[in-house]
Amino acid sequence: MSQERHFGLTGLATMGANLARNVAHHGIPVAVHNRTTSRMERFIEEHGGEGPLSGHRSTADWVAALARPRVCMSMVQAGPATDAVIEEILPLLEAGDVLIDGGNANFRDTQRRHRTAAARGVHFIGAGVSGGEEGALHGPSIMPGGEREAYERSVRDVFEAIAADVDGTPCCAYVGPDGAGHYVKMVHNGIEYADMQLIAESYDLLRHGAGLEVGQIAERFERWNEGELESFLIEIAARVLAHVDVSTGQPLVDVILDAAEQKGTGRWTAQDALERGVPLTGITEAVFARTLSALHGERELAAGRLAGPGGRTVGDADPAGLAGPAGSGGRDQQLADDLEQALYASKIVAYAQGFAQMAAASEAEGWSISLGDMATIWRGGCIIRARFLDRIREAYDREPGPANLMLADFFAQALAEAQDPWRRVVARAAELGIPAPAFASSLAYYDGYRRARGPASLIQGLRDLFGAHTYRRVDRDGVFHVMWGEDGREVEA
Ligand code: 6PG
Repeated sequence: MSQERHFGLTGLATMGANLARNVAHHGIPVAVHNRTTSRMERFIEEHGGEGPLSGHRSTADWVAALARPRVCMSMVQAGPATDAVIEEILPLLEAGDVLIDGGNANFRDTQRRHRTAAARGVHFIGAGVSGGEEGALHGPSIMPGGEREAYERSVRDVFEAIAADVDGTPCCAYVGPDGAGHYVKMVHNGIEYADMQLIAESYDLLRHGAGLEVGQIAERFERWNEGELESFLIEIAARVLAHVDVSTGQPLVDVILDAAEQKGTGRWTAQDALERGVPLTGITEAVFARTLSALHGERELAAGRLAGPGGRTVGDADPAGLAGPAGSGGRDQQLADDLEQALYASKIVAYAQGFAQMAAASEAEGWSISLGDMATIWRGGCIIRARFLDRIREAYDREPGPANLMLADFFAQALAEAQDPWRRVVARAAELGIPAPAFASSLAYYDGYRRARGPASLIQGLRDLFGAHTYRRVDRDGVFHVMWGEDGREVEA
């Protein structure tokens, strides 16, 4: 076996297989391995002719095929499967070698694996890879974290060659030390959850509030995709809505069970935000909306029992359970017209919250993440690619960057212009009894954030009364407490 520089890849499920082909298509020799050998053999049979691909049966043979310092990548399922692969590979590697995990790992696991690898002198790179099957094959967005020097020396050329590019700039940039790459990928997925929830709420409101047919909604999404909302998710939403089920002749969306599943990255994003004290309302609502959707049996029972507007429950004539106030009739042109701006504003909020979370984590973990770079590498290849990421990049490339994306001139202006239709959509959804948690929570976040003085003073007062938890004052420094059980005088705590 030649000791020519090879890129090693283990784990030939769809993402890993496509990534290996992508690397080989760029003329870079790839040594592949898979735990189940037959899968590796089939892969070589089907794709071996596409470029310099070689298959290896055992982990030891595969590692031996790589020239030093070795660069090998694991593309297996996050969690125990990744640990098992690492445990097997690590003893075969030597100081200076590089081990990359391209799965959707939890960043805390990546930090732990980084320490284990470092103890052997092996550089561990935790890389977020987004773009699904197509992206892996034709150009994903890659978010690598780990030791910068090892990344630059041994990995960067390969990743930049295979990543998507936008205007000649690769959708791949070093994120930061240890778990930073997987952290950013986690937040990417959280934003993906919020984005999809907003799209689903828009569809629901267009269909059951504005009375549009599924095909008309697909056309509307296509039109939206030509404006400010241009993005991969809007584009594919139009495709899914336009798709007709072959066996029934109905729109596919009507025959898919309405219970959303999840693998965990959205939940991790919300949990992390709670732990860090970052208000991440849109993404968290999106996670809860999925869990509520999964209570399918309970919802079916409740549909016949719990009244909607006008006191009606769901019946044959009203399968969506909308029963709006008399006269609403489910034909609301204003609602249909307002939704584009409402979606745009809520989407800005989802990204603003995600970027605020990355800023908080970067500070706390000492990662020095460049938010402008993250917006740059999300412009292409990944699931949340969208036209307005160019504007986000511009906002964070300025020095100093905004404390919150909503404060950047472009976005402050966009939100001001969108706010009237946004408010009407949230109000109308409530009137119609159509749940719009992501729309409503993003508007509440906007209104809460732009409020110089809010009602939390009362919460502090209540806490002081029932638990002597103390409060601070607006007019002088110090911590205070009222002697509620005595004469009501204020004392300094
Ligand atoms: C991507 C996707 C990818 C995957 C999600 C799906 O960036 O390519 O985010 O990572 O499709 O993990 O996640 P759920 O199953 O949790 O929706």
